[in-house]
Amino acid sequence: MDRALPDDEIVETALALALRAPSRHNIQPWRWLIDQGSVHLYLDRARVLPATEVVERDLLLSCGAALHHLSVAFAALGWATIVRRMPNPDDPDYLAAVTTVAHRPTNQDIAMSASISQRRSDRRNYRSWIIPPGYLGLLTERAAALGALIRPVRARAADRLSVATQSAAGAPCGDPAIGIRRCSGIEEATACRTQAFFLGDNLPEAAVAASARADATTEPDHADLLLLGTSADDRLASLRAGEAMSAVLLTATNVGLATCPLSAPLESTELHHRLRRDILDDTAHPQVILRVGRAPSSADPPPMTPRRLLADVLALVNT
Ligand SMILES: Cc1cc2nc3c(=O)[nH]c(=O)nc-3n(C[C@H](O)[C@H](O)[C@H](O)COP(=O)(O)O)c2cc1C
Repeated sequence: MDRALPDDEIVETALALALRAPSRHNIQPWRWLIDQGSVHLYLDRARVLPATEVVERDLLLSCGAALHHLSVAFAALGWATIVRRMPNPDDPDYLAAVTTVAHRPTNQDIAMSASISQRRSDRRNYRSWIIPPGYLGLLTERAAALGALIRPVRARAADRLSVATQSAAGAPCGDPAIGIRRCSGIEEATACRTQAFFLGDNLPEAAVAASARADATTEPDHADLLLLGTSADDRLASLRAGEAMSAVLLTATNVGLATCPLSAPLESTELHHRLRRDILDDTAHPQVILRVGRAPSSADPPPMTPRRLLADVLALVNT
């Protein structure tokens, strides 16, 4: 079997789709390098500014999402990927080496790839709608295929109602779902705008305004909260969790669900421990929370956030 990379146009198309991966504060902490036989993914620490204080786990989750987006894009273009994660123990920021092998795209490959251009973080309050067990099973399956587990974080309906009207700084509450809702809010949107300012990116004002509206509304939020966890708690586990997160987000998008990753709540050590104990039975480590649900039908979806140019994140090496 031929393991060389496809032609430049296909590689660049796949990389352009990988740029659409979600990242904490939209910092896009990745760098790609291409040599004759492989695409290499590096963590770009220069993207992390002190003002954002993004933790290592979020960087690796974001890079894992980009890595999975790349594989999804390649698959739809007729190339299956072979991924070596953390290939050089002496270079911790060298996250993956990707080679490809020709393959026949399936309908699922094409649907997942199409979802890359549809997905966006939707921070509005979601409509009342119970996530069908079939969907939850599908999302669980897709995460499991990449070595992660997902568990719903349940909150009683009455608690949800009261939480929706409380401030993020409310008193501690026994239900982890309520803690998560208090910690989420619009901070990320504001931070994204700050980060965009620092980095010269241009986060659409409308994205921030939509988040602000969501926070101000009195409509209760009916989002389901899914906790994504891994059995290990190291850098490799976070990278793989990012891949699983991407699979869940793209699958959810494909079946018409709105989504938003949330890691701000996990910055609370207390909530992190509570989620690990109450939701993961102390047997796995929380990586990220995923808000999933039905977007409101009355308004346009939030606009897509901008990305860096491929030329700014890609280097070619002739060997
Ligand atoms: C690991 C990770 C953690 C995130 N945490 C939050 C969060 O706590 N709150 C939030 O509103 N958005 C969060 N996001 C969403 C990012 O802000 C979003 O992906 C980024 O701004 C790009 O926008 P897009 O997802 O619409 O493409 C997170 C994304 C990732 C990948």
